[in-house]
Amino acid sequence: MKAEVVTADAATWEAEPFDAILLDAPCSATGTIRRHPDILWQKTPEDLEQVTKLQARLLDNAARLVKPGGMIVYSTCSLEPEEGEQQIEALLARNHELERIPVHAAESGEPNAITENGDVRTMPFHFPHPDPKLAGCDGFFASRLRRKG
Ligand SMILES: C[S@@+](CC[C@H](N)C(=O)[O-])C[C@H]1O[C@@H](n2cnc3c(N)ncnc32)[C@H](O)[C@@H]1O
Repeated sequence: MKAEVVTADAATWEAEPFDAILLDAPCSATGTIRRHPDILWQKTPEDLEQVTKLQARLLDNAARLVKPGGMIVYSTCSLEPEEGEQQIEALLARNHELERIPVHAAESGEPNAITENGDVRTMPFHFPHPDPKLAGCDGFFASRLRRKG
């Protein structure tokens, strides 16, 4: 398989449909506050609103660009439900061609990081370890979706 680098706005980019898409979306990065505490001072509610709208546009285009039966994994390093759980609920409500494929505990290194709906939601207190330097995790969200077909 040949890798290709494309520079484009992924919200409007046109391409032949893909078997699978990983949308590691731009986000508020609040999941990284344990390493970047300045984020709490730098990010504003307006930033959150703007990035949430962009994520929705990126998700809509990903849904268009994936083949029937193809998979989309959407991820962010944000702790905000607007960028995670709520973003996916809104997507599934407006696009009935998509369905969530729940992630199972056995697929995860941290069963506590799987939500009731089968999304992945890691928190800074997950992945405990006796050595504090190795304990914890950034806050991530991920959802696995499939285009029906
Ligand atoms: C969370 S980062 C992805 C990091 C990437 N997975 C990596 O390992 O380097 C999100 C990226 O999306 C890019 N981005 C933001 N808006 C975009 C858009 N409209 N179209 C394409 N990429 C965009 C940002 O520049 C940033 O590099």
